[in-house]
Amino acid sequence: MDIGIVIVAAGRGERAGSAEGPKQYRRIGGSAVIAHTLKAFLDWSKAGPIVVVIHPDDKLLFEEAVSGLATERVSTVTGGATRQQSVLAGLQAVAALDATHVMIHDGARPFVDRVLLDRIAARLEAGDEAVLPALPVTDTLKRGTQGRVIETISREELYAAQTPQSFRLATILEAHERAAAQSRVDFTDDCAIAEWAAVAVAIVEGSPDNVKLTVRRDITMADERLSAAALPD
Ligand code: CTP
Ligand code: MG
Repeated sequence: MDIGIVIVAAGRGERAGSAEGPKQYRRIGGSAVIAHTLKAFLDWSKAGPIVVVIHPDDKLLFEEAVSGLATERVSTVTGGATRQQSVLAGLQAVAALDATHVMIHDGARPFVDRVLLDRIAARLEAGDEAVLPALPVTDTLKRGTQGRVIETISREELYAAQTPQSFRLATILEAHERAAAQSRVDFTDDCAIAEWAAVAVAIVEGSPDNVKLTVRRDITMADERLSAAALPD
């Protein structure tokens, strides 16, 4: 089994405040977010070819961000206007390389760790065509509108989805291409495309550390966490 990696990093990071530049190039613990993310996969023994999907304006930012890493196995490709388009570009690039399976990861999730990657890979090895890392929802959920609660929603059977969502490459590439051909452009993650294509999706336990940096505060907190970890006892 050869596991290709697609890291999507072509977004503009509007919610994190784009004035400081796209969040994947902001520094946490002394290096760019994308450098942490990429390093997690470079350090993982089962990772095959790695494709990073970047914005056409970010070529220099990317080169600078990863300059300290051994990037012989890493190639880049230009993303699109939506995450779904960026993923498709990444999948097409990884399909031209040596891969039977693929992990699709958000560049903005720098705390992915090899324990999680091993857990996902084990399910791919066992023959699952699609694997979703996810955590059971722990907050009480409310449906509401215009500042008023309508109802409380049962948490039972509800999960918060993470990445890397992982697949047999031919299965997810075919599903993505079919979705694009049918102008189905509204999917928010890759497992949703697999579900639409009637592919069974296995759930594995995600990692509480594997958060997505979305708003400015997530970046500050990630930086503080890494700086604290670097301090001697
Ligand atoms: N992404 C991408 N191409 C896009 C949009 C998003 O590659 N056209 C990537 C982002 O770079 C990020 C991941 O998909 O690593 C998850 O998306 P999100 O957290 O929404 O990032 P942004 O779209 O950059 O942020 P925002 O939605 O706040 O603008
Ligand atoms: Mg976005």
